[in-house]
Amino acid sequence: MNLPFHGKKVLLRVDFNVPLDEHHRITDDTRIRAAIPTIQKILDEGGAVILLSHLGRPGKKRLPDGSIDKERFTLRHLVPRLSELLKRPVAFVDETVGPKARAKAASLLPGEVLLLENVRFNEGETKGDAEFARQLAELADLYVNDAFGTAHRRHASTAVVAEYFPKGKKSFGLLMQRELENAGKVLSHPDRPMTAIIGGAKVSDKLLLLERLITFADKLIVGGGMAYTFIKAQGGKVGASLVEDDRLDTALSILQTAREQNTELLLPYDSVIADRFAPDANTQIAPSNDIPDGWMGLDIGTTAREDFAKAITDSKTILWNGPMGVFEMPAFAKGTEAIAHAVAEATRKGAFSLVGGGDSVAALKQTGLDKEVSFVSTGGGALLKFLEGTPLPAVEAMEA
Ligand code: 3PG
Repeated sequence: MNLPFHGKKVLLRVDFNVPLDEHHRITDDTRIRAAIPTIQKILDEGGAVILLSHLGRPGKKRLPDGSIDKERFTLRHLVPRLSELLKRPVAFVDETVGPKARAKAASLLPGEVLLLENVRFNEGETKGDAEFARQLAELADLYVNDAFGTAHRRHASTAVVAEYFPKGKKSFGLLMQRELENAGKVLSHPDRPMTAIIGGAKVSDKLLLLERLITFADKLIVGGGMAYTFIKAQGGKVGASLVEDDRLDTALSILQTAREQNTELLLPYDSVIADRFAPDANTQIAPSNDIPDGWMGLDIGTTAREDFAKAITDSKTILWNGPMGVFEMPAFAKGTEAIAHAVAEATRKGAFSLVGGGDSVAALKQTGLDKEVSFVSTGGGALLKFLEGTPLPAVEAMEA
């Protein structure tokens, strides 16, 4: 990120897509904090910062009359927290490329910060409209993209706008660089053994990732709802557990590849099963391939926790994406917590560990272990695409 910022206006795309409660209060400011070093560096080097971000999907969650719900999705809600973190005032205008935005951007002095309104209030954003991107580009001298979380979107402010800045006038931000370096570390020449832990509800959501990791990792741990599709595919009795019947063949082919590639694929030997999907359901432990009718697996069992923890603590590189169970309910959180502890322990013993994806990061924070892993990604979908090997439009645009 070595651009000549002094005296320049810098258009900085960040991912401030943070969760807010019904009173518009930020419930997790991680993504804002993660962008601070880049903002600070530009300010310290004598630049002025024009921040661009989206928040939510306002185009899809419209008011009953079809208009944008500006009160719900405005970035104005973020100004106090941002200003507190930067220890300086943050100006805000309620438009992105209109006359007010242009005038405010033009009058910005070195050391000043301006936050523009949610880029997704403009239809051109998600369409990747070239004219909208050109108008964004006109606001500044330089373009920096620090929005790793949105790097998988080919939108006007994430990818198309970069075409209006020649090489030498655009750069990744510090967060984007760290994200790409750390995710790259897992995939290129990792220290071995390398273990990937993949959880979550469905095989279909993570199919490309599973197919890639099975040829690459030394051990692939599969937990969460998706494990029952693998177990049923092998003839197991999974009761009322979540299963994708149309993915049984896929699961068998992944198991076959694991054998051919000598990758150890670990499925949960046992499960915490429940008689209904509820926090106060009756529960017991059962072998994952012998779940009684009407009962469902909602977490990995005690033996599975030990098996998985042993595999993890013996590893030198660890990738974790997706929870082992319904961790939001305390009765089904122990499996995911055990993984968090094992990843932290392996890290203490010198392993490199990367945790990404909204749910696994939330689970890690729930256990208070988020500072005890090597890197926590701010990317959900973007990290998944990167790990799958799908090119990220925002990254390609910067390199073009
Ligand atoms: C995310 O939260 O994953 C990013 O901000 C991207 O948001 P999107 O899925 O609405 O494009």
